[in-house]
Amino acid sequence: MDIACSKEELKLFERIGDAAQKMDVQCYLIGGFVRDKLLGRPTKDVDIVCTGDGIALAHNVAKTFVQPPQVNFFKNFGTAQFRLNGLDVEFVGARKESYTSDSRKPQVEPGTIEDDQLRRDFTINALAISLNKEDYGKLIDPFDGTKDLEAKIIRTPLGPDVTFSDDPLRMMRAVRFATQLGFEITEDVFEAIKRNKGRIKIVSQERITDELNKIMAAAKPSVGLDLLFRCGLLKEFFPQFTDLSGVEIIEGKGHKDNFYHTLQVIDNTAAKSNDLWLRWAALLHDIAKPATKRYEDGHGWTFHGHEVVGERMVPKIFKQLKLPQNEHMKYVAKLVLLHLRPISLTKEDITDSAMRRLLFDAGDELEDLMILCESDITSKNKVKVKRYLENFEIVKERLKAVEESDKIRNWQPPISGDEIMQLFNLTPSREVGVLKTAVREAILDGIIQNNYDAAYALLVEKAKELNLTPIAKL
Ligand code: CTP
Repeated sequence: MDIACSKEELKLFERIGDAAQKMDVQCYLIGGFVRDKLLGRPTKDVDIVCTGDGIALAHNVAKTFVQPPQVNFFKNFGTAQFRLNGLDVEFVGARKESYTSDSRKPQVEPGTIEDDQLRRDFTINALAISLNKEDYGKLIDPFDGTKDLEAKIIRTPLGPDVTFSDDPLRMMRAVRFATQLGFEITEDVFEAIKRNKGRIKIVSQERITDELNKIMAAAKPSVGLDLLFRCGLLKEFFPQFTDLSGVEIIEGKGHKDNFYHTLQVIDNTAAKSNDLWLRWAALLHDIAKPATKRYEDGHGWTFHGHEVVGERMVPKIFKQLKLPQNEHMKYVAKLVLLHLRPISLTKEDITDSAMRRLLFDAGDELEDLMILCESDITSKNKVKVKRYLENFEIVKERLKAVEESDKIRNWQPPISGDEIMQLFNLTPSREVGVLKTAVREAILDGIIQNNYDAAYALLVEKAKELNLTPIAKL
């Protein structure tokens, strides 16, 4: 089989073949490595299957190096792994697997290479290449995986109901590979996903989300998200997202389908940035539209406050999907909250102070917010989109100009909360907050200058209203 391998990879394969021969077992390259090499995609994960003890083979291969790599192994699963020059090399014994209906944990017994291939998820992942002396390099392809690679098809080696009930995560994987590789899922496989979608419940949310994130990281995430929606899987674990779908019509007025609008926004964002969390912000920007939807007589459809309700939904959704509860979550929540702000600045008569406020509120996230907001401009009306985008460019220019003159991003007011406490002999209290806000607002509104003396004078004024007197000027 002709596949492009580095010298190092070829040397490693020879060592594996030799070690297996000494143990009198057969060994093969298998799975994603073979698939990706045949597709010409870069890959660093080498999977080896042998007709015997995979852990022993890994140890025997490792021993042949002057500086043997450390072998990690999992006795229960019969797998072993080591890292070598950036390659992740995994060994497993060929096996027959059968699964009980209420668990993902397989019952495993030794098998032949064909048994092993038959139990793999897709024909394109069941390709093996021999590393044995007698037929080194021979492609073993009992299910026409190479044909499917050429035809760009996702198909299962067994009947799809068996493959998916063996391991329901594979339904997510089918969609993920279709998205990453630009392949089609065959109709009978897609129908089987529809039938078996409820079985996804036995898979841990972490593993489902892992696949979802791979879909989100693809060049065009909408492909996978739409497939997940149409087969019914998405509703199983993320009903808030599918709630966005559909159009309601009252008095002849409809609103847009917010699910498909969101998919468009995700793709637009993905075209401009690889940042996974910015893409999540795109996914969640309108998540509260169903909860805030109203039909107002004479006015039409409104979604007032969806950005505020959406911000509050973010932590719940992150928890439900087992996404990290850390600064990434805060970042997504912040962008959801602010996603309407830049576009509101495209109206006429916008003051510098409104620009300053956005710079202050967005801080380091300004560029990402602008990408999200620009991506949110979707309409079938090309003229409208063009006009919005032109106005948006003007906002960008003005933001740049205000930032250059005022340096308001990540700005700290000239008098801090601690200083206010010292000045008025206060303990942490409501008054400190009132005074601090007064200074910040006055500077952002351009009422006073951005310096200590101006801020001090304003504080003294404001303090009088609160019956406070300064004890000292710092
Ligand atoms: N596999 C499977 N069923 C699964 C997971 C994996 O049959 N639920 C098999 C497939 O043959 C797959 C191989 O195990 O090719 C390795 O799995 P994995 O490393 O998860 O995926 P890859 O196919 O290598 O793809 P990627 O690295 O993109 O995840």
